[in-house]
Amino acid sequence: MLKYLALPVQASTHAGEIDQMISLVHWLMLVLFVGWGLFFLFALFRFRAGAHPRASYAGAKGKFAKSTEIAVAIVEIVLLVGYAIPAWATRVKQFPPESQALLVHVVGEQFQWNVHYPGPDGRFGRTDPKLVAADNPLGLDKSDPAAKDDITTINVLALPEGRPVLVRLSTKDVIHSFGLYEMRVKQDAIPGMDIPVWFIPNRVGEYEIACSQLCGLGHYRMRGYVRVKSEADFQKWLADPDRQ
Ligand code: CUA
Repeated sequence: MLKYLALPVQASTHAGEIDQMISLVHWLMLVLFVGWGLFFLFALFRFRAGAHPRASYAGAKGKFAKSTEIAVAIVEIVLLVGYAIPAWATRVKQFPPESQALLVHVVGEQFQWNVHYPGPDGRFGRTDPKLVAADNPLGLDKSDPAAKDDITTINVLALPEGRPVLVRLSTKDVIHSFGLYEMRVKQDAIPGMDIPVWFIPNRVGEYEIACSQLCGLGHYRMRGYVRVKSEADFQKWLADPDRQ
């Protein structure tokens, strides 16, 4: 479906909704582009200097011009109110309950994605910027009991298929953007902010986390991987110390 837009595969439950909106916007733009193009050619011919040596300064008087304008405005309002606002509201208002979701912290930095899972106890260990070191990019406090079973990775975000994922997104330095194209997810990571993002991956596979904001010289290589696994494979991955 929607092959003509050449979009990436749909790997989250809300991807179809986003694509439908992208498709409708493209159809509207096609109609406007062709319509305005034809009108432009018509005007070039109809109001050529040979037929109209004196210009008219009155502008269009017919009903057609006004009704076309109103029709375009109505279609745009329908797109905005009927599609865009409800789709956005679901993303930013209706978060899944934390008890049912996979919680994970993702922290951007120049130039990598740090991923932090709470581990079997479901509690994130304390982090402290003072503890940040080359082998501890998140500054996880290992003396905190809640941190003992925490799992951290760099550039690898493994997710279970079919379960809501609630990512809390932040960054250690500059603005990055968490772009999961196949999941139709994109959210800026802003220093000092902790931004929730949620989606339900529904397609097993390996995808990319593409940093989508120019964040410095290494922006081009700030790439992580999303590995969507079946629930069983995901649990295996969590339990496996090598996490391959
Ligand atoms: Cu981080 Cu671009």
